[in-house]
Amino acid sequence: MTSIPNPRFETRAVRSGPAIDARSGEVAPPIHVSTTFGRDTGSRLLGDHFYARYAHPNQEHLQRAIADLEGASAGVAFASGMGAAAAVMQSLAPGDHVAMADACYFGVRRLAGGFASKWGLNVEFVDMSDIARVSGAVGPKTRLVWVETPSNPMMRVTDLRRVAEIAHAGGARLLVDNTFATPVLQRPIEHGADIVLHSATKYFGGHSDALGGCVVFREPDAMFDAVNEALQVLGAALSPFNAWLVLRGLKTLACRMGAQTANAARIADMLAAHPNVSRVYYPGLADHPGHAVAASQMSGFGAVVSFRMKQGRDAALTVVGRARLFLRATSLGGVESLIEHRATSEGAGSSTPDDLVRLSVGIEHPDDLIEDLSQALCPV
Ligand SMILES: Cc1ncc(COP(=O)(O)O)c(C=O)c1O
Repeated sequence: MTSIPNPRFETRAVRSGPAIDARSGEVAPPIHVSTTFGRDTGSRLLGDHFYARYAHPNQEHLQRAIADLEGASAGVAFASGMGAAAAVMQSLAPGDHVAMADACYFGVRRLAGGFASKWGLNVEFVDMSDIARVSGAVGPKTRLVWVETPSNPMMRVTDLRRVAEIAHAGGARLLVDNTFATPVLQRPIEHGADIVLHSATKYFGGHSDALGGCVVFREPDAMFDAVNEALQVLGAALSPFNAWLVLRGLKTLACRMGAQTANAARIADMLAAHPNVSRVYYPGLADHPGHAVAASQMSGFGAVVSFRMKQGRDAALTVVGRARLFLRATSLGGVESLIEHRATSEGAGSSTPDDLVRLSVGIEHPDDLIEDLSQALCPV
């Protein structure tokens, strides 16, 4: 952390994490590997920690940094984004109602549609772009409205201010999965959200080499306590090394998001003009149905681009198979560009159109990326 008054986002990102260690002078923070922490002769803890599943120093560095960048006051870091999402669900009580975006990451959909009902939660999938439906879905038992914007992989956009008003009027909290935008491009708490969730595996880590997740809270209220308890008892603890890697990733987050977003915008334009492409899903395009809302709540449109092939599924698979620079792999947010046939990655039960290709655009030279896509697309 820095001691200058009111440091801007980029400065806070670079200086997130502990200050120079006064004794050793180390600029980079150490990795604290101990799983357990000692006690004195009176059985009092020698320091602030007890057992690493409950909390450890690297986890705390990371959750403080993410909370700061999101404008939140507290956070809890997890072993993965799904670990974070499951802990939020498990912090609720049987009988609670959750209004869940019908456009969301398929793993969260599986969690909400399957596991959550086994725990007695009543999850209702709602089209969050239809404000009347959101109003209709929020009732007296609704504890949480769960939104992902832009959504994976259809890039649907939700109006955060309007959904926050509806959630709050019904006595519920608004949770936003901000994985795609990151706080560089969108800070949901500024638009009324109460809780922000991240797969830190994606842009935060930024190098496709560490799993992680985090939930941050506007206020450290009862739900924060319940989510923290879910971490401690259910045990999806983030490893010190992964916490350290993700914290290191945060320092370059603003630069990477800027470069990746600029590359993605060029690629979206190129795809939109391509004769073999029937639709491009990128909120930066003026004809995207969520463009105006995205422009009002995001400072850039992100670096995931989905598109559909006019000639159908086989053409989509052919394009993916022909890529030479884009790597064929799932996930997103790393410095390297990835390409995937999304329905194949999602597997049985996928509702993603089978002619859809999803790109995670990295920081390579945009001309190289465009040349690679051009050769992969034409002729099919
Ligand atoms: C929007 C979104 N949320 C949550 C997750 C889950 O994160 P993780 O893979 O770190 O468990 C993902 C993973 O792709 C995602 O795309």
